[in-house]
Amino acid sequence: MAASMVTIVSRSSKLITSLQRNFHISLRAMGAYDAEFNKAKDRLNSLKEDPGNDVKLKIYALFKQATVGKCNAPKPGMMDIVGKYKWNAWNDLGNMSQDDAQKEYINLVDTLAGSEAPSSDSTQSSGSQKYETLLTSINDGVYSITLNRPNKKNAITLQMYEELMSALKEAAEDKSVVIATMTGSGDYYCSGNDLSNFMNIDPNNIEKMAIDAGKLLERFVSSFIDFPKPLIGLVNGPAVGVSVTVLGLFDAVYASDRATFNTPFSNLGQSPEGCSSYVFPKLMGAAKANELLLFNKKISAAEAFHRNLITQVIPDDVFVKETSARVAYMAKLPPQSMSYSKVLIRDAERQTLHNVNKEECRVLVGRWQSQECMNAIMNFFQQKTSKL
Ligand code: COA
Repeated sequence: MAASMVTIVSRSSKLITSLQRNFHISLRAMGAYDAEFNKAKDRLNSLKEDPGNDVKLKIYALFKQATVGKCNAPKPGMMDIVGKYKWNAWNDLGNMSQDDAQKEYINLVDTLAGSEAPSSDSTQSSGSQKYETLLTSINDGVYSITLNRPNKKNAITLQMYEELMSALKEAAEDKSVVIATMTGSGDYYCSGNDLSNFMNIDPNNIEKMAIDAGKLLERFVSSFIDFPKPLIGLVNGPAVGVSVTVLGLFDAVYASDRATFNTPFSNLGQSPEGCSSYVFPKLMGAAKANELLLFNKKISAAEAFHRNLITQVIPDDVFVKETSARVAYMAKLPPQSMSYSKVLIRDAERQTLHNVNKEECRVLVGRWQSQECMNAIMNFFQQKTSKL
């Protein structure tokens, strides 16, 4: 089997070109997408990267279906292994109409061309950052997001919430992006919600401000629930609050052995968010999740690994090197396959997660207006001033 796949690889680059030559003359009357189809054939010739055998077979099959129609050719004999792969791929399209095959062919070529095209942002350099609280870059299919308020331990301000949502949207929509990563600059990954978000509150308007903050948080968490591509957490140091809870919505999380994980909701008179009230007990079991969600327990990276919150712990001195290599490998995997797989996995829980998110935010809107919460925030800032 391995040998036959190698044969396909070596022959398949010639396959598409010869197909295009051989089937240049359409065997049917003008179809609905003929002009675009012809352009797609030309675009295919200009692709530089090998899209892999599965994709090439799909292109072959769609081309045959679009130009000849349903597969009526005799099945190749047992020794014609490549011919059999090609025949199977074509035959699998069954009764797909020629117009539909053209449309799929055009979409597939567009996707391949899009993933090779330089992104409008791929030239983004650290000198021309579009965000104030984040560093972002796109390189070789990887959209990297770095929380960038190191002096405040990357605490998330209202502006940072909005910028993170924008960055995720950009990563989702940019065809050159295969996966996205999130990390922190400086010694912290993130210290959670910026508590000064609570300080500029108009006492006559507390309820409205809490409701608005609830809506913002719900949108923020939804952007993680619905992010359509693989999202990898690179937890470079301690993580607190919402930066920990949303990790349960990432597809893989690598943490430095320096990282710690802490969700001090009870200390702050608050309650869980980021779908953690649902996801954490599923990952860890209720008894262990409650230590974090109710009793403020701070856990090490090794404990987070044993509680299934993270994928792997990596020694701090090789963290960047190791994770960069891993992410580069992931970004070279077939993007469509990863996207389809991610959607399948997420769809099984998507609606539940949205319901949980809504309910968590509803409860928090009440908590934020409570005396317990006000006292806790005042304490945090009083401790700060007493240190001065
Ligand atoms: N909100 C607002 N400011 C924060 C912050 C947060 N979540 N986390 C850190 N900061 C600020 C500090 O106020 C300090 O600001 P300053 O230099 O103007 O005084 C600066 O970041 C550095 O933090 P500092 O507390 O001096 O560092 P530390 O190493 O002693 O402690 C933390 C780091 C994260 C443990 C501590 O800052 C903390 O407990 N922050 C609050 C975390 C939190 O409760 N988040 C909400 C979870 S729901």
